[in-house]
Amino acid sequence: MTETATNEVPLGIQLTPLNPEYQRDPFSLLDRVREAGRVIWDEQFGRWLVARFEDVHAILNDRDLLVDPRKANEKSFNAMFRQRLLGEDREPSMLFQDPPAHTRLRGLVSKAFTPRAIERMRPRIEEIANELCDRVEGQERFDLMAAFCQPYPTIVIAEMLGVDPKDQADFKRWTDDSVAAGFDPFASEEVRQRAMRAGEELQAYLRRVIAERRAEPRDDLITAMLRAEENGDFLNDEEVLSMIGLLLAAGNVTTTDLLGNGMKNLLRHPDQAQLLRERPELIENAVEEMLRYEGPVTFSGRIVPDDRVIAGCPMQKGDSITVALGGANYDPRLHKDPHKFDVTREDIDHVAFGGGRRYCLGAPLARLEAQIGVRVLLERFPTMRLAQQELKWKRVPGFRGLEELWVEV
Ligand code: HEM
Repeated sequence: MTETATNEVPLGIQLTPLNPEYQRDPFSLLDRVREAGRVIWDEQFGRWLVARFEDVHAILNDRDLLVDPRKANEKSFNAMFRQRLLGEDREPSMLFQDPPAHTRLRGLVSKAFTPRAIERMRPRIEEIANELCDRVEGQERFDLMAAFCQPYPTIVIAEMLGVDPKDQADFKRWTDDSVAAGFDPFASEEVRQRAMRAGEELQAYLRRVIAERRAEPRDDLITAMLRAEENGDFLNDEEVLSMIGLLLAAGNVTTTDLLGNGMKNLLRHPDQAQLLRERPELIENAVEEMLRYEGPVTFSGRIVPDDRVIAGCPMQKGDSITVALGGANYDPRLHKDPHKFDVTREDIDHVAFGGGRRYCLGAPLARLEAQIGVRVLLERFPTMRLAQQELKWKRVPGFRGLEELWVEV
């Protein structure tokens, strides 16, 4: 195979969770994509696939490349998203915006969602992790996803935003219902309807809280977003609302899945779990290995701004590029023995949080939550083991996370 593009349907491989082989092990299939060439044309979805670390990294860091699906050309799979976005009268969240709008929104939210604001949450995050463990204390068998991985990030972000403790249960139900269906293209009509109602209730609630914080500022993230200022420019109420929606959508499911996948991998490699118990200072490296080995986001994407050569391949204006984060993270050009789960790994560079100016805004929070969550779970349940042979994966394209994770303690 040449080092440039091929014009084949990618090797007859189905890269979606509808394929049971992909569900079981997407990384071995992505190995085949990565080793077939630098760039592969995927006719089925109308996109270029790139999976080598060096190319993925360069594309993520290329400041000319775009993300707004409204700029995708007709043959591109992003045209589907474009229809959905154009159907709405509101502007999309910054996730789908290009500069200058993206630069402005990201600049303002970064003033509120700072590493300091996150670090300040550390003691509370530790308490929340322990409270969740208290609730299952005494049970011999439980689903770690439902008991811990799912509620944990939602409670943390609710407290950061400044949701009143009395509203926490409603907040959790609304976010779970609305975000989960948004991520699941196979959701039933009933689930979709429930998601829509939950989304409306959540918005109405947040509008009330935003108005309250305008009138009476507090020491929380919503107030910080309302106050964030750059050269006399502020976020308006609708932008704050959209930003909260983005933080919930981009942050909760992903952190849940990092913890779920990470704990599953530790339980499947008891020697690694034992090593981490004996050497707790390895926790930061261990979380990076969890992100590399089975990160929650398998793919990200960019749109080509004009006819040009990318990763050695001539592309056209409006073409979609899908970068396989989960393929780049297994590139043997960078990682020795990539299929080995090793919490002491030194060649730990990964692209699980994307890169460049769109690098995950929540990465410091996700890292902190995962480091504390895994440490507390290992401490509180020293005999925890997997109580499930067949794993059930969520069927959400581009993401990787477990439906359930049954454990015995
Ligand atoms: C963007 C992964 C947690 C907020 C992204 C991107 C990835 C990602 C791959 C796209 C980057 C790109 O295309 O270059 C993850 C993973 C997480 C996680 C694996 C957990 C393990 C969070 C959390 C939050 C968050 C906790 C916030 C509470 C965002 C936002 C963006 C983003 C706002 C858009 C950034 C932009 O467009 O400028 N994340 N994320 N993420 N993430 Fe995360």
